[in-house]
Amino acid sequence: MTDLRVGVVGHGFMGRAHAHAWRSVGHFFDLPLSPRLSVLCGRSPAVGAAAVRLGFPAWETDWRRLVERDDVDLVDICTPGDTHAPIAIVALRAGKHVLCEKPLANSVAEAEAMVRAARDAPGLAMAGFNFRRLPSVEFARELVAKRAGEIRHVRAAYLNGSLVDPEAPMAWRLRVEEAGSGALGDLGAHAIDLAQHLAGDLIAGVSGITRTFVPERPLADGGGRGSVTVDDAAAFVARFSRGALGVFEATRYADGRAEGLRVELDGSLGSVIFDLGSPNEVSFLDATDPPAERGFRRIRVAHPAWWYSHAIGYEHTFTHQARDLVEAIGSGVRPTPSFEDGLRVQRVLDAVATSSGDWRDVLTSGVDGC
Ligand SMILES: NC(=O)c1ccc[n+]([C@@H]2O[C@H](COP(=O)([O-])OP(=O)(O)OC[C@H]3O[C@@H](n4cnc5c(N)ncnc54)[C@H](O)[C@@H]3O)[C@@H](O)[C@H]2O)c1
Repeated sequence: MTDLRVGVVGHGFMGRAHAHAWRSVGHFFDLPLSPRLSVLCGRSPAVGAAAVRLGFPAWETDWRRLVERDDVDLVDICTPGDTHAPIAIVALRAGKHVLCEKPLANSVAEAEAMVRAARDAPGLAMAGFNFRRLPSVEFARELVAKRAGEIRHVRAAYLNGSLVDPEAPMAWRLRVEEAGSGALGDLGAHAIDLAQHLAGDLIAGVSGITRTFVPERPLADGGGRGSVTVDDAAAFVARFSRGALGVFEATRYADGRAEGLRVELDGSLGSVIFDLGSPNEVSFLDATDPPAERGFRRIRVAHPAWWYSHAIGYEHTFTHQARDLVEAIGSGVRPTPSFEDGLRVQRVLDAVATSSGDWRDVLTSGVDGC
């Protein structure tokens, strides 16, 4: 079988998760190509130790050198957002396949350039919205399409408590030049993509507000404090193109929520809820049931490939993502989520940021005015 030689850029959280998926996907699934870890890229000599640990036979400290190599067929981008567009565009022009972590880019202009590069390239491009790979999400999407009727409400939130401690140190995620935005792009991107994916509809307009609660944090090297230049939390209402009302929230200040990603959809015939806390389940209310019997039922969802319907978790989303991309490359069919899907999310992120900048309060008069 032909090898698919994978070059991964970045060896932090996502670099490890993706490497794990590339290493194991061919062991479990029958694939048209054989994925093989080929080259790892970081920014310092520490990448050598990471390569050995993760199972890469070679490494580089400049992503351009990784992209130029003949022993890389697919470039997997697991770096901060400011690097996504340059790496993806150069890799696509070099004839490589590309997998790029979310959010696709740091701006609409960058995401548009990535879409153009993907359209013109011989290689295939996929955006890394990994939660779409949960069988429960796919099942929820089918339920919405077949059983929910006209969608009236979409409620989506991605809550975590990662920054509740005001002394948590500065990181690239808190600098706008590198991250593009804060909770909005990091967490909100997942909620927006899932909401649009599950609703089968796109957000046409938004009104949003963002806040930075802790404007300065200690620098990681102990040398003073640095400015936080992204949002800590974002909230917005949205209008979907077919008329549904959306309510969205993304925050790093919701203590104790772990990775609280949840999407609810209410339609004329039924309601569907996906909650990452129960990744193997979907809740469904059938509005055609007799009123006295109406209520949510929890449906256990399994992927047929995992024998005897065993439960799956977060890391499997990356394995399924790798499987789907290899199958797309094998068949020559463009994979989803595409870079266009990434751009569709990027447009919403930009619109929320613009709306927040233009925010105008309609003041309440308070009790003193009565
Ligand atoms: N899908 C998910 O569930 C999920 C979860 C976390 C992060 N992400 C996304 O993954 C991406 C990376 O996030 P992370 O949590 O892995 O970050 P991280 O800080 O853990 O790791 C980033 C890595 O990128 C490397 N890097 C940075 N700039 C580089 C450059 N110019 N050249 C080569 N290497 C470079 C760093 O050395 C580090 O190894 C981001 O886009 C983030 O939004 C997705």
